[in-house]
Amino acid sequence: MGSLHPLLDARFSPAAFDPAREATADDVELLLEAARRAPSAGNSQPWAFVVGRRGDDVHRELVRHLAGSSARWAPDASLLVANLSHRLVEETDWEYSEFALYDLGQAVAHMTIQAQALGLAARQFRAFDRDGIAAAFAVPPHWEVTTLTAFGRPGTARGAVARRDRVDLVWVPER
Ligand SMILES: Cc1cc2nc3c(=O)[nH]c(=O)nc-3n(C[C@H](O)[C@H](O)[C@H](O)COP(=O)(O)O)c2cc1C
Repeated sequence: MGSLHPLLDARFSPAAFDPAREATADDVELLLEAARRAPSAGNSQPWAFVVGRRGDDVHRELVRHLAGSSARWAPDASLLVANLSHRLVEETDWEYSEFALYDLGQAVAHMTIQAQALGLAARQFRAFDRDGIAAAFAVPPHWEVTTLTAFGRPGTARGAVARRDRVDLVWVPER
């Protein structure tokens, strides 16, 4: 087997971030551009991002809504980004796109790899108050605050992560 791309090979979700690393405005623009270039069903682009740089008001507000677990490590991240998906057509319960979560995940994957190229690791997480963030940033009900991503220089080395074997990833129908 050949070698995995170095950006994929080095990627991991740090359990701590370096509180001295600042993210630049250019870092933010490049992460948003990476998301913008992601494919999406019917080119629906069902995503939006709340971007906080450590030290600004958005970062401070996002930190207020972290769960106990993420509050131990996420505030040190250079950037905290809330990942929003466009789930429903406004004032109906119709799904905007059955692929909205899939598409958002792909946009965030683009961001994590662009971040890696900028020397920033990413940890995506669900440990936060979804309703609290939606209220704080006036996110309407047809959008969902799906996940947060913390970006920053890792404050820990990569640990071992148990993963399924490649052979198990290939679906074989039972007969
Ligand atoms: C949608 C999603 C939600 C996650 N939620 C959390 C979380 O709430 N807390 C946390 O510490 N890590 C969270 N993670 C990080 C995963 O635990 C991590 O990606 C997984 O253990 C694999 O490790 P690796 O990213 O270093 O390869 C989440 C990741 C994803 C993609």
